[in-house]
Amino acid sequence: AVEPVKLDIQADQPGPVIARQIYGQFAEHLGSGIYGGLWVGTDSKIPNVRGWRSDVVNALKAVKVPVLRWPGGCFADEYHWRDGIGPQAQRPPRVNTSWGGVIEPNTVGTHEFMDLADQLGTEVYINANLGSGTVQEMAQWLEYLTAEGDTALARERRANGRDKPWRVQYWGIGNESWGCGGNMKPSYYADLYKHWATFAKAPRGNRPKLVASGGQELELHWTETLSAEIKQMSAITHHQYSLPTRDWKKKGAAVGFPEAEWISTLAVPQTIDNYLAKHREILDRNDPAKKFAIYFDEWGSWYDPEPGTDPGFLVQRNTLRDAVLAALHFHVFHRHAERVKMANMAQMVNVLQAMIVTDKERMVLTPTYHAFAMHLPFMDATSLPVQVAGVPEYTLAKPGLPKVPVLTGVPIYSQGDYRMPALSASAARSSDGKLILSLANVNPRQDLPVQLAVGGKGVRAVSGQLMTAAAMDAQNWFDAPDRVKPQPFKAEAKNGTLALTLPAKSVLVIEVQQ
Ligand code: AHR
Repeated sequence: AVEPVKLDIQADQPGPVIARQIYGQFAEHLGSGIYGGLWVGTDSKIPNVRGWRSDVVNALKAVKVPVLRWPGGCFADEYHWRDGIGPQAQRPPRVNTSWGGVIEPNTVGTHEFMDLADQLGTEVYINANLGSGTVQEMAQWLEYLTAEGDTALARERRANGRDKPWRVQYWGIGNESWGCGGNMKPSYYADLYKHWATFAKAPRGNRPKLVASGGQELELHWTETLSAEIKQMSAITHHQYSLPTRDWKKKGAAVGFPEAEWISTLAVPQTIDNYLAKHREILDRNDPAKKFAIYFDEWGSWYDPEPGTDPGFLVQRNTLRDAVLAALHFHVFHRHAERVKMANMAQMVNVLQAMIVTDKERMVLTPTYHAFAMHLPFMDATSLPVQVAGVPEYTLAKPGLPKVPVLTGVPIYSQGDYRMPALSASAARSSDGKLILSLANVNPRQDLPVQLAVGGKGVRAVSGQLMTAAAMDAQNWFDAPDRVKPQPFKAEAKNGTLALTLPAKSVLVIEVQQ
């Protein structure tokens, strides 16, 4: 018999608030991430409000999307905002050179996107084009969005149907400037950023937080250089995708994968945990006043594309593995909530680790969607430490995956085997005062008995939602849209001890009653 893991929530030691923006989303002009998945146009038979499909918008409203990043990604650094204003029929079609070489009709532009944000009730994070645009173009876009007075750009916005200025909460200057955004060195980017940020002006009271484009994966030098050289910024971004094989040419299958690719995928958030600690050391040195946040504005699984789809559209199936992966990311972001003030899953609809997939009029909520829904109480909650004792290791000996330098130095790979704690836990006090706990059992073969206490004292009962499935790759797809779904969960103390069993490969979110 496995000894129970002992968890003790330290409710009297509140940590930082978990910004709700950690549960943010990303929607790029990529594949059917916008066209088809969200936008169907006003003439469509699919029910819509001013072109945005109602089924998808309603499902997104239910998970309270706190912030939405748009229009890219790599697409952002080729996007010219003037292509997307004025009468839709007159907008210029362009080639989307980043994603599949398809025609970008520019039907969805600034007004349409801001309408989507209004319908969702979300903040907006607009990524401006540093790669192939000009500083004047960027400055004028921000003025067009936010101008109050009787300026030419405000008049143009009004003529296009929007009287009042919009509120723009976040303004990104470039994306992946080390790669698709211009192949720059951090010092060159830092100079450009300072130049551009000088002209990113908006009326007092409606100034967006300015976001500098940072590094990826284990890189620390972008954070080091940007935080040392830039003063006028709110955040530095960071990107990390979870590829089962770490090989961009053959990433690993989304379904029907071996256990080796289960553990290698779920090991990635541990890597992130490890290097976020290093980013924080750099920021604590260069920014002791804690003005700069980290926005982890692209994360999620990236598998080989769904057979039969355009590889440039990044379509992949979504399984229980993705839901567990999402929960592990949330736990890491909660742990680093002092600096990580935003994270954006890539991407919201139909692309990569999507929350929602669509096929014409049909829509499926993925296991990842349910993971987001289960964690709603963590938005704006106050994080709490959890003391953990007796967590067994989940190991897989020599799984035969390539060891790629990007992950060396992370303890779980040090002996050539994969090894990680079987349990990941995160606790918080929700904004309405409840004690909440999220647990993930990453071992796909072994249930985990758990005993729960708060400040050394027993708890009375717990209730919430549990998500698991029979197979590691159980998926929701159009033929079986509800295969993976959270189920109600309850447990009560017996003889003063609250004991529960966390099933193999599961995520549990509960309210703890003392
Ligand atoms: O999310 C897909 C792409 O991944 C984004 O466009 C880019 O920023 C990243 O490389």
